[in-house]
Amino acid sequence: MQYGYFDDDAREYVITRPDTPYPWINYLGSEDFYGLFSNTSGGYCFYRDARLLRLIRYRYNNVPTDSGGRYFYIRDGGDIWTPSWMPMKSALDRYECRHGMGYSRISSARNGLAFSQTSFVPLKDNCEIHKIVLTNESGADKDVDVFSFIEFCLWNANDDMTNFQRNFSIGEVEVEAGGARIYHKTEYRERRNHYALWAVNVPVAGFDTDRQTFLGLYNGFDHPEAVFAGKANNSVASGWAPIGSHHIKARLKPGESKALVFVLSYCENPDDKKWERVVPGGNHGVINKAPANALLDKYGSPEAADRALAALKDYWDALLGRFSVQAEDKRMARMAGVWNQYQCMVTFNMSRSASYFESGIGRGMGFRDSNQDLLGFVHLVPERARARILDIAATQFPDGSAYHQYQPLTKRGNNEVGSGFNDDPLWLICGVAAYIKETGDFGILDEKVPFDNKEELADSLFVHLKRSFDYTLTHTGPHGLPLIGRADWNDCLNLNCFSKTPGESFQTTANFESGVAESVLIAAIFVFNGPDYIEICRRTGRVEEAAYAAKAVAAMTETIKTHGWDGNWFLRAYDAYGHKIGSHECEDGQIYIESNGFAVMAEIGLDDGRALKALDSVKDRLDTKYGIVLQQPAYKEYHLELGEVSSYPPGYKENAGIFCHNNPWVTIAETKLGRGTRAFETYTKICPAYREDDSDLRRLEPYVYAQMVAGKDAPRFGEAKNSWLTGTAAWTFVSISQYILGVRPVFDGLLIDPCIPASMKGFSVIRHFQNAVYRIAVDNSASVEKGVKSVTLDGKQLDGVVLPALGDRKTHEVKVVMG
Ligand code: GLC
Ligand code: GLC
Repeated sequence: MQYGYFDDDAREYVITRPDTPYPWINYLGSEDFYGLFSNTSGGYCFYRDARLLRLIRYRYNNVPTDSGGRYFYIRDGGDIWTPSWMPMKSALDRYECRHGMGYSRISSARNGLAFSQTSFVPLKDNCEIHKIVLTNESGADKDVDVFSFIEFCLWNANDDMTNFQRNFSIGEVEVEAGGARIYHKTEYRERRNHYALWAVNVPVAGFDTDRQTFLGLYNGFDHPEAVFAGKANNSVASGWAPIGSHHIKARLKPGESKALVFVLSYCENPDDKKWERVVPGGNHGVINKAPANALLDKYGSPEAADRALAALKDYWDALLGRFSVQAEDKRMARMAGVWNQYQCMVTFNMSRSASYFESGIGRGMGFRDSNQDLLGFVHLVPERARARILDIAATQFPDGSAYHQYQPLTKRGNNEVGSGFNDDPLWLICGVAAYIKETGDFGILDEKVPFDNKEELADSLFVHLKRSFDYTLTHTGPHGLPLIGRADWNDCLNLNCFSKTPGESFQTTANFESGVAESVLIAAIFVFNGPDYIEICRRTGRVEEAAYAAKAVAAMTETIKTHGWDGNWFLRAYDAYGHKIGSHECEDGQIYIESNGFAVMAEIGLDDGRALKALDSVKDRLDTKYGIVLQQPAYKEYHLELGEVSSYPPGYKENAGIFCHNNPWVTIAETKLGRGTRAFETYTKICPAYREDDSDLRRLEPYVYAQMVAGKDAPRFGEAKNSWLTGTAAWTFVSISQYILGVRPVFDGLLIDPCIPASMKGFSVIRHFQNAVYRIAVDNSASVEKGVKSVTLDGKQLDGVVLPALGDRKTHEVKVVMG
């Protein structure tokens, strides 16, 4: 069943009933201030760091699910309801939620009263705006009471959920303008220089800031006492749980509309301007409201809110205009041209911090994850990608290894997790190569970048790449393959962990330093990145280094062929005893997706039939109707020598789940074999838009990728989990844009090399590349899967298939004929 539809012209997903199989969310915000916003107005917002500076409280794993957000209660005569459906689950005569690019709009109606809520974070300001419009669609006058409601988080979300002996005594607020402006200022009296503002642009009849007074101690959000009494209590919170609620009275004639603008903002003052005045004789300072006032002056009217929303739309038009697709297959076109890129921007902004599956208090930014995310947004925000690369590289250790994670606010490596994930260094080469191909900016290689965040250890970014490259070569095992360390891309293949203690971290505990366990995947990642590293060396005059690297890559390729091949597919690893993993000799886990996808992506075995065999084995043994599972057979019991991979019940996560992140590796690998139909099939199977009418099973948003879909061994085969913050976004975008549609940045320009189903008659792409626009029309009336017969650029036949970077700020017409 479908719960909505794509409105492609508006770039919106329109949810048509509120009881989606899981909350379907959107992200608001583009720089420092972000909100998570569900289709029933649930979620929360934060300034820069979802853990440390959270504005409103959100209880993960709560019952009912997704309760807590920005709520508006309506009292229309005696009829009380919530127009976003939750939290009262009110019967609505009409409901629709449109998730667009950086904004959402919920529209509903009941008993002749229409409601709409447009929510977004304006460009450049640290606030959420919620514009509410009430319309009397009935034939009689209406007296309507609106109660707003948010619950403040005492900033540190982790502390907020745990440290009640303190928290219940520290909550403080200020109220102004009769209650229209509510300020949450907990801890401002001591070390904080920031507060939150919850304000409305019209006079109010009353307010509440104490949760118990507003709700009633034993009530849920679905039965607030104040709303049922029809009257706010003007409560001023002192300790316990500060909230913000406005009571607004509106009289509406038939046909009349009224708009209200709510602003939920983070405001900061310099230390010496924290206070407006100090109340004489008292110890309660009055906070300096200047930043709040400025914001309210700016967004204090519906027209101002509309202008800010229009500016946000322009921003997204410009961004997504950089790569767009026209094709007969609308699902592919909208995903590749809009939603996949939108998700890539969200992974850029959020990394893995805050979603409905990531609580915002946990993980820092991953070294490998961030480098891979970059592949999906470097064409959209190249300058920001550049800055990101320099941040990441600064957390590398002098020996080339890397902190596995770093904290976005401090940009320091995370000591608790440390290093030892031996694939990490290579992803830096991958990210930097993608950046240079996109921008032509070889200058980044000369940037001086610290090691381990220490300026005195700084060296050029090129030296960082060399240390990455060499780290792999100097950390090899008995077969000459790279040592795996704590884990490689697969966080759960913990071959040196040997954990028997419940709760111990599989990633950071090492009870067994084998010095033996090796990864075929890391070897393949090395060979995949090799040619780019070599090319970077050549193009910067490092001839000797290029020759040295070429030799090393050739040798690693041979090592994989000798020690990383199982007869019909590539092995996955050797464990701490030197036993094979991912071999027909194993009982479970005989074949893994990652090493096979990556080896063929790296073009290993294209020349001798191994690549073909490997991908056929993947198809035979791992493919399902919802995508390719991670390995087979699933591990049925826990293996001390394998770690977390065998800890999951069969079919979930890394134990034979469809771990979507690695599926595009197979898609790309298939294009290396020229099998366009098969490449497209692997692409569509995990692409959410193709499962829109299967939402009861898939459950998650049809417009974004999920990290995992349960595999065939799981009772809930086909069910998705962990949407939004996943490397799937970047890699699927690479697979569809660069390898299937085949518009791929290379060091010399933009390569055109599609690999599509023979039945696809053509498509077109608009691609901004290094300050020029290319309008590329591909004609496949020859019905081939791969092969380009001719390319013309502005009417002139091109020699070869690489469009030069013209950089002339003009638009160029490109005609491609396949055959
Ligand atoms: C998660 C991690 C990523 C890892 C993957 C596979 O998505 O964020 O770093 O590669 O799981 O274990
Ligand atoms: C668990 C998950 C894996 C994730 C890791 C992050 O191991 O299974 O997917 O990458 O946690 O720490």
